[in-house]
Amino acid sequence: MAKKKEVKSIEDLPGIGPSTLKKLQENGYTTIESIAAATVAELSSIGSLGEKTAQKAIEAARQILGFTFETADLILEKRRQLVRITTGSGDLDNLLDGGIETGSITELYGEFRAGKTQLAHQICVNAFLPLEQGGTVKESPDEISVVYIDTEGTFRPERIVSMAKRWEDFLNPQDVLKRIKVGRAFNSDHQMVLVDEVSRFAKEENVKVLVVDSLTAHFRAEFVGRGTLAERQQKLNSHIHTLQKLCASYHMAIIVTNQVHAKPDMFFGDPTAPVGGHIVGHAAQTRIYLRKSKGERRISRVVDSPLLAEGEAVFMLTEQGIVDAT
Ligand SMILES: Nc1ncnc2c1ncn2[C@@H]1O[C@H](COP(=O)(O)OP(=O)(O)O)[C@@H](O)[C@H]1O
Ligand SMILES: [Mg+2]
Repeated sequence: MAKKKEVKSIEDLPGIGPSTLKKLQENGYTTIESIAAATVAELSSIGSLGEKTAQKAIEAARQILGFTFETADLILEKRRQLVRITTGSGDLDNLLDGGIETGSITELYGEFRAGKTQLAHQICVNAFLPLEQGGTVKESPDEISVVYIDTEGTFRPERIVSMAKRWEDFLNPQDVLKRIKVGRAFNSDHQMVLVDEVSRFAKEENVKVLVVDSLTAHFRAEFVGRGTLAERQQKLNSHIHTLQKLCASYHMAIIVTNQVHAKPDMFFGDPTAPVGGHIVGHAAQTRIYLRKSKGERRISRVVDSPLLAEGEAVFMLTEQGIVDAT
C-alpha cells in the first residue's frame, strides 16, 4: 500500500488553496482539528468553497484525526488520558470523582457570591500543578496555558497570586500570571469573538483550561423581555456550540459560570434555576450548583451528571483559595 502523503496543516487538505486558506485562517480555522469539527455550511461560507469541496476537506481532516466511529475500548483508552484538575478541596474532588475533567464542559451555577468566580480562579491556578498533584503539567508550568474570559470585570490577578502561594513547592505565582490570558468581554458579541479567538492559539499554547465567567450575564442583560428570548437562545446556542468544538478538538477543561433566576412557579424545593434553560444545561457534562452556607462555607451539589452520583460537598472560601471545610 502506498504511503499516504503526510498532512500537517490545513493547506495540505484537498480543495484548500491559498485564498481559501487565508479566509479560513482569518476566521480562526488554523488547525486540522478546527476543520474536522466544522460543518459543511460553515466552511463553505467562510472559505467561499463549494459544498462538495468543503465536505471533502472536512472528511479528510476527520480521517486524519480519526473522527469516525470508534470502538469503546479506544474511547476508554482516550478517556484515561483525560486528567482531572483538583478544586483545592478534597471533599469536592471526591464528589467530582477526582476533580474538574479536561475535555469536558463544567457549569458552575449559583447566586451572587456563591463562589463561582473564586472556584474558577482556583481551577486556573491548579491547572499549573504537576499531574501527580492534581494539575495538568508534565514537566514545567510553562508548557501549558489558561484562558479567562471575564464578562463581569471580576477577574483579579491578586487572587491568582494568593491561590498560587498555597502551592509554593510547585508554583511560582509570577509564572502562573504570565501563562493566564485574560480577555475582558464588554458585550455578548465581544464574548463570542473572544471565544472564537481561542481556537487560533489553543493548540500552540496548549490551553488546558478555558473559563467563561459569566457565560450568560451579557445575554441575559441584552435580551430583555419574552419577545427576544428565542433570539437570545439562538445566539447562546451558537456560542455554546463553539465552546463544544474547542473542548472536543483540544481536550481542554471548559468552565462556565451561570447565575440563577427565581422560578416563581416553584413551591417546593429550591425555587431557583440556572439562566439559559435547557440550552446551557445540555451543553455541560457536569453541572455544579453552589450555594452559600454559614460564613465562608459553601455547599456544592453535582446535578444530573452522566457519570457522577448526585451528592453534596461543603468547602470554604479563604484567602488561600478553596479548601475543605473544617
Ligand atoms: N481574598 C479573599 N479571601 C477570602 N475570601 C474571599 C476573598 N475574596 C473573595 N472571597 C469570598 O468569595 C466570595 C465571593 O465569591 P465569588 O466567587 O465572587 O461569587 P460569585 O462569582 O458566585 O458571585 C466572597 O463573599 C468571599 O466569601
Ligand atoms: Mg462571579
